[in-house]
Amino acid sequence: SAAEKGGYDYFMLKEIAEQPKAVADTLLGRIDGSGSLTLDEVRIPPGVLREIDKVVIVACGTAFHAGMIAKYAIEHWTRLPCEVELASEFRYRDPILDAQTLVIAISQSGETMDTLMALRHAREQGSKVLAICNTNGSTIPRESDAVLYTHAGPEVAVASTKAFLTQLVACYLVALYLGQVRGTKWGDEIRAVIRDLSSIAGAVERVLGTMEPVRELARTLASKKTVLFLGRHVGYPVALEGALKLKELAYMHAEGFAAGELKHGPIALIEEDLPVVVVVPSPRGRSVLHDKIVSNIQEIRARGARTIVIAEEGDEAVVPYADHLVRIPATPTLLQPLVATVPLQVFACELATARGNEVDQPRNLAKSVTVE
Ligand code: AGP
Repeated sequence: SAAEKGGYDYFMLKEIAEQPKAVADTLLGRIDGSGSLTLDEVRIPPGVLREIDKVVIVACGTAFHAGMIAKYAIEHWTRLPCEVELASEFRYRDPILDAQTLVIAISQSGETMDTLMALRHAREQGSKVLAICNTNGSTIPRESDAVLYTHAGPEVAVASTKAFLTQLVACYLVALYLGQVRGTKWGDEIRAVIRDLSSIAGAVERVLGTMEPVRELARTLASKKTVLFLGRHVGYPVALEGALKLKELAYMHAEGFAAGELKHGPIALIEEDLPVVVVVPSPRGRSVLHDKIVSNIQEIRARGARTIVIAEEGDEAVVPYADHLVRIPATPTLLQPLVATVPLQVFACELATARGNEVDQPRNLAKSVTVE
């Protein structure tokens, strides 16, 4: 009913708008007054966490994209090798797992059969399994050694939005916690990131306040057949997520690429007026990546692409090559997906609406996929 949707036309719009609160709720009570993490729910003893020599993340769809981003954070902050794998592929390749492996299963519903089968397989090999889940008491957390709940609240729309942002927050918390427990040379950086996380909900709120031009742009693209998405580093999984949203909601052909791969094939796809969304890393921090992606934007635009550029406030280098410029607040490199994903959600939702699609219930899809 209209009341359930809180005055919005679709649950998806309501859930997009709820993201600042969802992010704040997922942080609530998990950072103490001294700026340290207190993840009591992670009932895997610190002694066991110190013995871990590898992390493996399993998930599907949007949760898999959160896992891809988590890999960058975990490897950077803990120096533990981290693999991320589609849950549906995982057990069929006989993965190498033992008691020193920490498996992280990410799932909004907690009922996804592919993810459940992957975690069962991991536990049979003696690995510890930590679930990141949004649904209290669901099967995946019940069958795991520990669970860190995301506090997004119920997500009704089939397309995952607020659950994704809170999965990212939970992944950062786990990565930082592992760093804290194991002690890494990034101690100062970890403390700084914990501080930055505390203000990130405000940054998400600011993005939401600037989305009207994105909606207008989406409406002008309603008759397009294809949209491409490019990103690098943590912007690469964001590009994949932008493409997945467009597929499931707008039923359009959409693909995400790592921008560095363009020259290895995908650049041949570029043609006159093809919309290409580019997620630009911060010019601060890893500035080499930033400069490389600016050259990519230049290259595709020279070949006729219509460039839709998502870049940090104050990034002037992109301006000459952006047909459409979407600004996002400056964040630390690893946290950028929390703000960069939001315009892509709004973009897909508006395109779906413009094409007359059922936003909350896309064809052929179910909210939780309980078959393998
Ligand atoms: C996201 O928009 C999709 N509907 C889908 O990819 C989803 O993320 C996937 O099926 C995993 O679901 P889960 O998080 O409930 O396990």
